[in-house]
Amino acid sequence: MQRRRFIRLAGGGVLGSTLAAAGCSTALPDEALAAWAGPAGETDVRRWALAHALLAPSSHNRQPWLVDLREPNVITLHVDRERLLPETDPWFRQIVVSQGTFVELLLIALKERGLAPQLQLFPQGEFAARTLDDRPVARVSWDPAAAAPTRDPLFAQILRRHTAKVPFDVARAVDPAHAAALLAALPANVPGLRCGHTLQPEAVERLRGLCLDAARVEVGTPRTALESARLMRIGPDEIRRHRDGISINDLVPRAATALGLFDREQAPQPGSRTFDRVIDRFAEHTRTAMGFTWLLTEAAPGRTRSAEVNAGRAFVRQQLAATALGLQMHPMSQAPQEFPEMKPHHDALRRLLTGRDDGAVTVQMLSRLGYCAPVAPAPRRPLDSLIRAA
Ligand SMILES: Cc1cc2nc3c(=O)[nH]c(=O)nc-3n(C[C@H](O)[C@H](O)[C@H](O)COP(=O)(O)O)c2cc1C
Repeated sequence: MQRRRFIRLAGGGVLGSTLAAAGCSTALPDEALAAWAGPAGETDVRRWALAHALLAPSSHNRQPWLVDLREPNVITLHVDRERLLPETDPWFRQIVVSQGTFVELLLIALKERGLAPQLQLFPQGEFAARTLDDRPVARVSWDPAAAAPTRDPLFAQILRRHTAKVPFDVARAVDPAHAAALLAALPANVPGLRCGHTLQPEAVERLRGLCLDAARVEVGTPRTALESARLMRIGPDEIRRHRDGISINDLVPRAATALGLFDREQAPQPGSRTFDRVIDRFAEHTRTAMGFTWLLTEAAPGRTRSAEVNAGRAFVRQQLAATALGLQMHPMSQAPQEFPEMKPHHDALRRLLTGRDDGAVTVQMLSRLGYCAPVAPAPRRPLDSLIRAA
């Protein structure tokens, strides 16, 4: 009965229009987006650089970062192990990739301030593949007297970069020169990292189908679906309070949640309207994918975690380069995920992209390409909540 009432609400939209007429805004609350104005008035160079780094993309916008500032001229990064995604990311690969995005923005920001940062990954040793511990992921240090390095032109894109989770313009093919520019954006001196893309219609169509099939598995597996549902922040109060996860500020879901008609503890049942609506959203995204790009790493025994960090560094550099060109790069991480139910799609993706199926290559990121109107930023937590020791 309750579900039927929700469906009527969701389908009709009458309540939504009523709330809209009453002046309820769907714009995200200003506080949640304050970080995108940049670190105005921040005099400490480490805090200034960190205020840029926290604008990095992360899976489900978890922002799984903790920094230690006790050593002068050093920033030490740890994984925030309270912010994992154990169902969809059981080996914590995406969480480690999300460390790399933070590290790279930190390096770019420090260079912008004339510092020459040295990056040491896993200074106390690398934690084993499929596990995490409290040892640092990265130590970024600099000699304040060292000569200033060349600035990175990608710095200009940090405050402009956003992930577009909207349909792309199907009337606009991806400019091959734009796709090729993604290759040039990779970080220097990272062995074993490979990047590919396709704009070729048959290959794009196959990847669209694979992404949608993989989404059906994620949404149709109750524990993975619930992991995402529990990270939904619905309405301005929740968005302001958490400033992470999946922000939903549309009026109908807000009203349904306020009335107790939308239960985030119930996985959507295949065949239900809720399930179909979630899948329809994925379908809109896959149907309008005008190309795909991916990042692969070659197996490196004992260096799996470094490879993941480096993949994150590469991904954010490519997203920044895409931003400069007006191109969108939207990750579609379902097929690369490692939970058991995904295995057929995971294997199919690897075979498709690498031609092999022996575990020698990991698909770290798969993103759709295309163009769309500018999109709104996603929330960020305040800088102080990332500082574990100062
Ligand atoms: C490792 C990784 C995996 C991601 N996977 C997805 C995904 O499957 N679907 C999606 O919509 N966004 C994905 N994203 C993008 C994040 O959701 C996004 O970065 C986050 O919501 C913050 O938004 P922003 O990038 O606009 O700042 C991924 C990002 C990273 C770093």
